[in-house]
Amino acid sequence: MTKRVLSYVRRLFKNPSITKSDLYGSMGDFIQAEEQQRFCAKCPGITLCKYKGLRWSISVKKIFRRQIIVAEVGNCVNRQREKRQRETEQLIRASKIPEAMKRCTFGTFITAGDPMIRTAKGLAMASVEDGASLILGGGTGVGKTHLAIAMVQKTVSRGKAALFVPVVDLLDEIRSGYNEGTADAIQQVVKDADCVALDDLGAQRSTSWVSERLFSVIDARYRSGKQTIITTNACSMSQLEKMLGERGQRIVSRLAEMAQPLFIKARDFRTRKNVQQRLPVGK
Ligand SMILES: Nc1ncnc2c1ncn2[C@@H]1O[C@H](COP(=O)(O)OP(=O)(O)O)[C@@H](O)[C@H]1O
Ligand SMILES: [Mg+2]
Repeated sequence: MTKRVLSYVRRLFKNPSITKSDLYGSMGDFIQAEEQQRFCAKCPGITLCKYKGLRWSISVKKIFRRQIIVAEVGNCVNRQREKRQRETEQLIRASKIPEAMKRCTFGTFITAGDPMIRTAKGLAMASVEDGASLILGGGTGVGKTHLAIAMVQKTVSRGKAALFVPVVDLLDEIRSGYNEGTADAIQQVVKDADCVALDDLGAQRSTSWVSERLFSVIDARYRSGKQTIITTNACSMSQLEKMLGERGQRIVSRLAEMAQPLFIKARDFRTRKNVQQRLPVGK
């Protein structure tokens, strides 16, 4: 048995001079690794795996400046992939994207040759890549929310904690959270996430309480430098400032510093005739 293990290890590292004394740890572990490779070569998939995705493997380690060969158990590539997928699914559930809006991806966002819409999509895609913050402004139906959701979904698929948060819902949750003792925790989640999309900033009634809460959240995002995506019906930063009430000026000055604004001038997607003609029947 030891002979078979030795010749396997020598072949593995293309080194015929490896001896038994180079093998560190229990010989049983090496035997297990040698035996398992034949099973794994014809991998039947994770559900039929008799090792349940646990994989003994042999590798070289350095301890006290000496190279040793060890046999260790870990997750095989299939089990790792499954684990990542499970984690991603959990993140998607936690990202709070309503079921009906999961269809909003970059793939389903049509530019139909409109340069402004093309720029918006390009900027949104680039921001996912470099983690930059973005303000998407403009009239109703130009695709701001669609792009924000697409960004969150893409970020989540990369294993990051990203949240889609309609501002009106956030404020409602904080308000009702005071009774249930969850108000602080809700705000903390929004402050801590790797990426947050605050949808429809400025659509809420701007009482001084609202203005204060929004400042607190945006200021925390500003200070941590974490990616923040804002959508708003405002068509300029000064209009947004007015919509945000008492703290408007301070909120907008933070936003101007941390995020690139793009005010989309286009017609409502639902009434864009040339786009409608390109849509498959039934959409
Ligand atoms: N360029 C586009 N391609 C595909 N669907 C779009 C596009 N722009 C908007 N939509 C769709 O039109 C509807 C309104 O868009 P939405 O993103 O909610 O607009 P906004 O947030 O700017 O008011 C949504 O159903 C959205 O999926
Ligand atoms: Mg919207």
